[in-house]
Amino acid sequence: MKSILIVVDPGMAVLIIASIILLLAILTASLVLLRALKTALKLTTPDLQLEKKEVKKEKIQKTNQQTFWQKVLGLRPMEEEEELLIDHTYDGIQELDNPTPVWFNALFYSTIVFAIGYLLFYHVFGWGMNQEQEYLAEMQAAEKQRLEFLATSGTNIDENSVELDLSPEMIISGQEIYLQNCGMCHGNQGEGMIGPNLTDEYWLHGGDIKDIFRVVKYGVPDKGMVPWESSLTPIQIAQVSNFIASIGGTNPPNPKEPQGDKHEELAAENAVAAEIEL
Ligand code: HEC
Repeated sequence: MKSILIVVDPGMAVLIIASIILLLAILTASLVLLRALKTALKLTTPDLQLEKKEVKKEKIQKTNQQTFWQKVLGLRPMEEEEELLIDHTYDGIQELDNPTPVWFNALFYSTIVFAIGYLLFYHVFGWGMNQEQEYLAEMQAAEKQRLEFLATSGTNIDENSVELDLSPEMIISGQEIYLQNCGMCHGNQGEGMIGPNLTDEYWLHGGDIKDIFRVVKYGVPDKGMVPWESSLTPIQIAQVSNFIASIGGTNPPNPKEPQGDKHEELAAENAVAAEIEL
């Protein structure tokens, strides 16, 4: 199988890296700016800062009193509800300004980390296969399977690969095809009518199984022998060709006079095959 090329457009990769760097730069710049503003605020409003510090201290004390689970779930004790209440009311319904729970924040930030990892893994470095590459890989695997299947199922038999096979299944299916399609021209026993006698040792186009297969497949259109390529499958052509090979030398009644050259090989091959079967 061809190995799958992981193609990452170099222009695209540069663009992605550039945008990541730009975003990081903007983030750093805004953090620096925030710090500067905070310092400026501290210097200009010292009283406010003191007050804030106290509030913070109180808060820290309170959070230290919280249990681990209260922290994780972002729960505040009931007594604090008064402080958390937001001062607006809709039809008598009030709202608490609860902090975002830790578990939620953890989940949220982990999705960002995951997204960056994903982007780098699949789109920048191309370590994994993206949808399209996965599709192509699957198609290649399926094509390989298809070829393997065809190689074993025999549907790709042709005039070069066909072998003499006189097993009963082959001959029986071949005879069925023969009686349906060929008997009207070659005689039901192969004795010959419009078409030549197929049981004698004389052949116009060769008496080897490969020759028979070729004539059946491509026909001899000028001489009235139909090409069967489009109406029979390769395996069917192999079956009927083997049936013809099997009736060589059967001497049916009313034989048509010999045509073509003598070919003794088939009769000999038949004899050998018959011996093997015995
Ligand atoms: C319409 C009549 C017709 C039909 C149907 C027909 N054939 Fe033929 N066939 C012929 C003729 C005519 C020839 C002789 C061609 C030539 O003179 O070259 C021939 C030649 C052949 C040959 C070559 C014989 C040789 O001496 O080399 C084979 C094999 C053969 N046919 C097999 C078949 C098979 C198998 C079928 C059925 C699937 C079939 N034929 C159906 C008319 C037919």
